[in-house]
Amino acid sequence: MKTILVTGGTGYIGSHTAVELQNKGYNVIISDNLSNSSADVIDRIEKITGVRPIFIKADLSKEQEVSVIFDTYHIDGVINFAAFKAVGESVEKPIEYYMNNLQIAMNMFVNMKRKGVKYFVQSSSCTIYGEPDKNPINENCPPKFAVSPYGNTKQMVEDMLHFITRDGLIQAIALRYFNPIGAHPTALIGELPNGVPNNLMPFITQTAAGIRKELIVFGDDYPTPDGTCIRDYIHVVDLAKAHVVAMERCFECRNKINFECFNIGTGNGFSVFDIIKSFEKTTGIKLNYRIGKRREGDVVAIWADTSLAEKELGWKAVLTLDEMTLSAWNWQKTLNKEKIL
Ligand code: NAD
Ligand code: WQD
Repeated sequence: MKTILVTGGTGYIGSHTAVELQNKGYNVIISDNLSNSSADVIDRIEKITGVRPIFIKADLSKEQEVSVIFDTYHIDGVINFAAFKAVGESVEKPIEYYMNNLQIAMNMFVNMKRKGVKYFVQSSSCTIYGEPDKNPINENCPPKFAVSPYGNTKQMVEDMLHFITRDGLIQAIALRYFNPIGAHPTALIGELPNGVPNNLMPFITQTAAGIRKELIVFGDDYPTPDGTCIRDYIHVVDLAKAHVVAMERCFECRNKINFECFNIGTGNGFSVFDIIKSFEKTTGIKLNYRIGKRREGDVVAIWADTSLAEKELGWKAVLTLDEMTLSAWNWQKTLNKEKIL
């Protein structure tokens, strides 16, 4: 069976993907510097799948540490999750974000070429689209000027791949995720936000758990049906499965061009109030929230046209919004019980 290097694999999306890869029999090597995750995720992946992935603690922005991994193991493909991902922090520390996110990607490309590893799947983001001119947005819509260094690193890695894959020695797929939320049904792995969450779902679960006093809804005067912003929330387990099919498309040489991009969302737009309602319905908890000011830089509404992923990857999100919000809460209960946060 083929061996896949999962960078950032102890993180939120990487850990769920490692589970799905192992469930399908792939050998998984996880490498992470644990800057935003914890080593016990490896135990948890083993608990869920019955198989312990190989784990290498390494700073993947350092070429030497990456080359050791490629020299030690036979690798058939790379899924690249490792990156800094906090939008606000990236505005404060742009150089750190460029150094980390771009260097990691380049270290992969250099070593893949050196060792003849052909297949690469990149974590990209809907953030590259900015505010859409129309919804749902499809992959042909050109990226807009990035509003954050973080978003710019996602655009830049896509731009690099466009040129790097030209000779066909590396073939790549960028998956442009919309808003991943939720957790594994076992509640053994999930998102581990660092400090006060910026994102909606962990803020909701932490408010319900009493860690935060109240959720502030950032504006209810947007030009949307209920006045709050609209996003395409996708269950992290559905998202993880998209990586397995993307890697398999490469292994089976079904790529149409050397570098392909796919939107990975559900194709449905939900408002902030929709998320709150779903959370309250599935958990039976009344959430303490109030309406606050708009958050600077927020896109009003974006959701994905997922028809290309459906047609080419044969992948479609199947889990519902209620399954997302309930699984996020079940994961929060694990965190409370284990006093992780
Ligand atoms: P995460 O922070 O949970 O996972 C990223 C992992 O990368 C962490 O475990 C971190 O320790 C590791 N890492 C960072 N720098 C590293 C380095 N120099 N060397 C080794 N490991 C390093 O984040 P996530 O939510 O799982 O996101 C995974 C990927 O998906 C990221 O590239 C992110 O930009 C992208 N993405 C995330 C979202 C989202 O909303 N979560 C949306 C779109 C795209
Ligand atoms: C969702 C909605 C907020 C918190 C971020 C990144 C983006 C991408 C996806 C990585 C918005 C509202 C939020 C709160 C609120 N990630 N909200 N109160 O803004 O779509 O995008 O994640 O690539 O790059 O920027 O996600 O979860 O922060 O916000 O009202 O306390 O919830 O205004 O409408 P967003 P989010």
